[in-house]
Amino acid sequence: MTSADPAVASAPVLRVRNLVKRYGSFEALRSVSMDVNEGEVVAIIGPSGSGKSTFVRCLHQLESIEGGAAYLDGELLGYEWHAGHLRALSEGAKARQRRHLGMVFQQFGLFPHMTVEGNVMEGPIQVLGDRVEDARSRAHHLLQRVGLAEKLLAYPQQLSGGQQQRVAIARALAMRPRVLLFDEPTSALDPELVGEVLSVIADLARAGKTMLVVTHEMSFAREAAHRVIFMEAGRIVEEGPAQQMMTQPRTDRLRAFLSRVM
Ligand SMILES: Nc1ncnc2c1ncn2[C@@H]1O[C@H](COP(=O)(O)OP(=O)(O)OP(=O)(O)O)[C@@H](O)[C@H]1O
Ligand SMILES: [Mg+2]
Repeated sequence: MTSADPAVASAPVLRVRNLVKRYGSFEALRSVSMDVNEGEVVAIIGPSGSGKSTFVRCLHQLESIEGGAAYLDGELLGYEWHAGHLRALSEGAKARQRRHLGMVFQQFGLFPHMTVEGNVMEGPIQVLGDRVEDARSRAHHLLQRVGLAEKLLAYPQQLSGGQQQRVAIARALAMRPRVLLFDEPTSALDPELVGEVLSVIADLARAGKTMLVVTHEMSFAREAAHRVIFMEAGRIVEEGPAQQMMTQPRTDRLRAFLSRVM
């Protein structure tokens, strides 16, 4: 460990223990456990159907879980103890927790009737109760950070996919989340637009944002992530420092996967 490593000693921001997710009798997640530390960037890779999206969807409480638990800063996500049993939180309480987990999806999901600036200001005003002028100045700052200062008053349909995804990243950041979750943020983009979005995410990584990134961009996982998690069939098969794992995989399964995709 070098001094550049994220705060290894402190408690993890995100802690997941034995998470189980079933769809009927099919087990999509089979006892998944992992931590994400403050300032750490963790990439999740793995073949199609291995449970990567399911995992981040469960963390974002878009899915119920059948076993195990996830904690954000030590607080149980989605459930509470009541009379000796766990019960699901109300939708309102889930929404309050969800604010701390910013999510960026494959399909950018911007509000089409709002300008770029409006998209980024909406959550802070409506949900966090920020004053309009504060929200606006923060939105401008964030849009500058993702390289879109000149598009404040454009509408989403006037932007390229890469620009829309950068707005979506600014919008997620505007909520001041503890952790940013990305699910294949570049897979809906034309190849020539992938780089601009990855470079924004890499900048956030250098700035110390805590992030969990599902990606099929292996060079991004190797260069921008601190740690990589390889999933297959609902399980974590291998996990380790990014450079080492991507260049010297320990398991045959990761080796086979990497040789297929690289
Ligand atoms: N709503 C659902 N109902 C039933 N099965 C589902 C549902 N959502 C996902 N699954 C199954 O769970 C497994 C994991 O799916 P998931 O979308 O998490 O995979 P993934 O690793 O994200 O794949 P990809 O790389 O293609 O995005 C798959 O076998 C999928 O068919
Ligand atoms: Mg997926």
